[in-house]
This record gives sequence, structure tokens and C-alpha cells, in this order.
Amino acid sequence: MSVVRVNTQPLAGQKPGTSGLRKTVAEFSRPGYLENFVQSIFNALGDCSGKSLALGGDGRFYNRQAAQVILRMAAANGFSRVVVGRGALLSTPAASCIIRKYGLDGGIVLSASHNPGGPEGDFGIKFNGANGGPAPESVSSAIHAATTRLDHYLVLDTPDIDLDRLGTVTLGSTTVEVIDPVADYADLMASLFDFPRIASLLGHRRFHMCFDAMHAITGPYALEILERRLGAPPGTVINAVPLEDFGGGHPDPNLAHAGDLVARMNGDEPLAFGAASDGDGDRNMVLGSGVFINPCDSLAILAANATAIPAYSGGLAGIARSMPTSRAVDRVAADLGIPCFETPTGWKFFGNLMDADRITLCGEESFGTGSSHVREKDGLWAVLFWLNLIAALSKPARTILREHWQRYGRDYFTRHDYEAVDADKAAALVEAVRERLPELPGQCLGGHTVQAADDFCYTDPVDGSVSAGQGLRILFTDGARIVYRLSGTGTAGATLRVYYDSYQRDPALLELAPQRALATLIAAGDELAGISRLLGRTQPDVIT
Ligand code: G1P
Ligand code: ZN
Repeated sequence: MSVVRVNTQPLAGQKPGTSGLRKTVAEFSRPGYLENFVQSIFNALGDCSGKSLALGGDGRFYNRQAAQVILRMAAANGFSRVVVGRGALLSTPAASCIIRKYGLDGGIVLSASHNPGGPEGDFGIKFNGANGGPAPESVSSAIHAATTRLDHYLVLDTPDIDLDRLGTVTLGSTTVEVIDPVADYADLMASLFDFPRIASLLGHRRFHMCFDAMHAITGPYALEILERRLGAPPGTVINAVPLEDFGGGHPDPNLAHAGDLVARMNGDEPLAFGAASDGDGDRNMVLGSGVFINPCDSLAILAANATAIPAYSGGLAGIARSMPTSRAVDRVAADLGIPCFETPTGWKFFGNLMDADRITLCGEESFGTGSSHVREKDGLWAVLFWLNLIAALSKPARTILREHWQRYGRDYFTRHDYEAVDADKAAALVEAVRERLPELPGQCLGGHTVQAADDFCYTDPVDGSVSAGQGLRILFTDGARIVYRLSGTGTAGATLRVYYDSYQRDPALLELAPQRALATLIAAGDELAGISRLLGRTQPDVIT
């Protein structure tokens, strides 16, 4: 076994986005593409000798091959220890859990989250630091800078190892430990929640639930936790076997893509509770009988009731939400008298706040919710939190939601996505709105008067780092808001996201359909940015 030095040259476009580097499988499998990026991660870390890594991914096409390459490169770069999930599998929250539990120096997670998989689909790599969280912007920038000046990578000349057998293998001077990808995570969940209480809820003859793993990574985790440890009836977890192409589906847990679950919730025998997770297990969607629980509301409800859960019985240090997320959780934080932080889109901004004990819970409108138990959003954790809450409060999910609105008022929220639009046109559209921001205050748009308008800029309260250009905010005097931003995770053209929210306290107006409640705002948002005119799209591709 010898270390081979392979000459290479920089490849364009290896810039991590909202959540690591995401490209098509075709691009990732170009000669040297994966190797260049992995070597750039290692170069950005400095001297890797003696360091340790976690490694695993969501099981999508190219996951296994990529894992073998990364192991050979880690060995050639001097890592002393790599902990890898059996089958090269690890959900994103489980990777975070393992980095923290075993005190590793970081981890590489192979995932393109909810993007479609298979040979024609997407692939991705994320690097997480020693706190278990996504690399902060400073590290991502250093990785990108390293990609632009790379001239060689190192790889050990050795065959593939058997990643399906638990145990320890030596690669050069690197110890590779193949571990059960589920056990540590399941133990962590058992330490946070009241498992006996959840088990008795799941054993109740009138409580029927379904968890849709969407043929992605959470299948094995949900089977172990919900069916084996908590005793839910067999069949509670559907689409439980991870497939390289997610069964041809789109593993994004929302009403548009979790079709099997939605059908069961609305069938002849409607279920009391339904949930789904995404490709890499960090997102969650939660449904009560006859109701969709918007992720913004879900975060607010978890925060308002956190002391009913063993892990949070002592209260919360603070809460954070991404900027486009509705302000429902802000009302809870104000009520609890704890701080509420507004961060840019992407989980990496929550890590510093958690490491400094400034927040305990956080979330994003994009079906991401989490707490300081790990440094990633966590799909199954959110589902278990809801189950524990339903059991502890002895109320169905829909009642918990309704009572929350009655107490705090309702923040109507929707996001409209225009996918795969021409990147130049999308950038020009956003730029045109940005130029108009100073003139907007005082203007009336669709019956709403603009109070303030800005391009969101975040100063991290812990390390003072500044992230500018994080989305255009139009705030109205009646509490409504429109946000425009371009996605940082797509791989085809650009995706324009437009977020709308408004606040309603009138008890008679709490049950409207969000698209109806927000209709005048939506029309104003389309008009202001000229979406139909400039993009030639009359309807969004996805509404959540
Ligand atoms: C999207 C979501 C964002 C989330 C990210 C990774 O990023 O909007 O909230 O953190 O996926 O799951 P975007 O494509 O908008 O940049
Ligand atoms: Zn994800």
C-alpha cells in the first residue's frame, strides 16, 4: 500500500452552497471531481495527521463509491481514525451525533438532502466540524479557496474495503471502524424523550400513525426507534428501505412529494398522526388528523411546550429561526422571556449560538427543526418530540395546533418556489427589487403599506462575523412580510423562493387556507418583482 500523489488542476464551480457542495452525479463522477473537492477539504483543515473523521451518507447513487475514495484519501492524508456507518450510511443528524459522542475532529456527510437521486440525479458532500455542525462560512470559504489552487491530491493505492461488515479495518496507518449507523442515534433519542410514555401512546388502540421514510435514510432509524424500541405496530413505517434512487421519488417531506403519507392521512380510516423525513433524515413534516402543521408553527409549538419533555424540562436558553421563517416562534420567546435570534437561511448559523449556550431550539420554514442535542436539524427528533407532546398533554396534534393559534394568534405562511429558471433572469429580477428597496417605505402594495425594506445582513453575535446579501425583506405596517431570495442548493439554473407571511389575531379568522389568507400579499409580491413578466412563469412550481 503506497501513497500516490496524483497531479490535478482546479475545477471550476466547487463552491459550497447553503449546505455543502451539491452537483449532478454526472458532474461528481467526472475524473478527479470528487477527489479535488475532498483534498480541498483536507487542505483547508491543515495538517490532518492524527485527526479523526466520521463518514457516511444518505445511501443515494454514488454514495458507496464516493465513500471508498474518501477512505483511501483520508488514509493517504494521515487521518488516524475514520468512523463509518455500515454500508457507508449515516443520516445527517446521526453523523452529528457520532462526531460529538466520539469526540471526532469532524465528519464528511455524503448527501444532496431532498434533491432527487439515481444516476440522473444529484449528489453532494458536506463537511461538519468538531462540534458536529455544518462548516461555518469561514471554513466553507477556505475549502473553496483551496479548490482554486489545487495541484495534486493524495490517495492510498489499496482495494475497496468491506463496508457491510461491522468491525475495524486498517488502511495504511488509519483505523477504519465500521459501526452500526443507528444505535448511537437511537440511544440519544431515548435519553431525551419519555420513551415509556410514547410507547403507551403508540400501543393505544385508537392512536394510529404512519411515518413515511420516502425510501431514504430514515427507514432503518424509524424502524428501530418507532417499531422496535417503542413498539409501534409493524407497517407504521412505510417506504422504509433506502434505495439509491429513492424509488424514483423526490425525498422532500412536503404535501407535494409525500403522496403515500397524504393518501393515508385522508383515507377511509384517517390516522391521528403522520410524519415524513427527507433524503438524509434532517427534515420533517408533521400532520395531525385533517391538518398540516406548518414547520414555522411546529417550531413555535415545540418551544411553547418544551418543558413537557424530559430533556427540556428545565426550560430553554433561547430560540433561533432563519430569517424567512415566520415570526410565530418570536411570540413564544417573548412570552417566555427568552431571546430569539434571526439568522440567515441554512443550519450553519445556529451552531455558534448553540455552542455558546445562547439557544436550545431552532428551526427553518423548510421543514427543519432541531435542538442542541446535535448540531444539525433532525427529522426523527421532531417527530418524537411531537409524539412525546401528544402523550404528555393527552391531546391530539390538531388540538395542540388550534389551541396554540388561539393563544398566540396565527402567522399565516407560504413559500412559492420557481424552479430551474434562467439564472441570469433570476439574478436580474432580484437585483431590480434590491435597487427599489430604498423607495419602498410608505408605498402601498396590494393594500399593505410598506414599513421597511432591506437586504438582510447578519452579524453573528458570538464571533462577530458578517453575512450580507441574505435575502430581500419587505416588511409591512400590518405585520405582513414578503421575502425574496435565490436558493443556494439547486443544481439546474436558479430557483427563486418567495416567502409570504401575515399575522392574524381575530379568533374568527384563524382557520383560513393560507393561500387565501395571503392572496393580496401574493399578488403584491408577484407585481413588485414582475415574476410573471420577467420569468414567464404564471404559477410557482412548488407551494409549501
Ligand atoms: C434550502 C432551504 C434551507 C435549508 C437548506 C438545506 O436551502 O431553504 O432552509 O437549510 O435547503 O436543507 P436553499 O435552497 O433555499 O438555499
Ligand atoms: Zn436534508
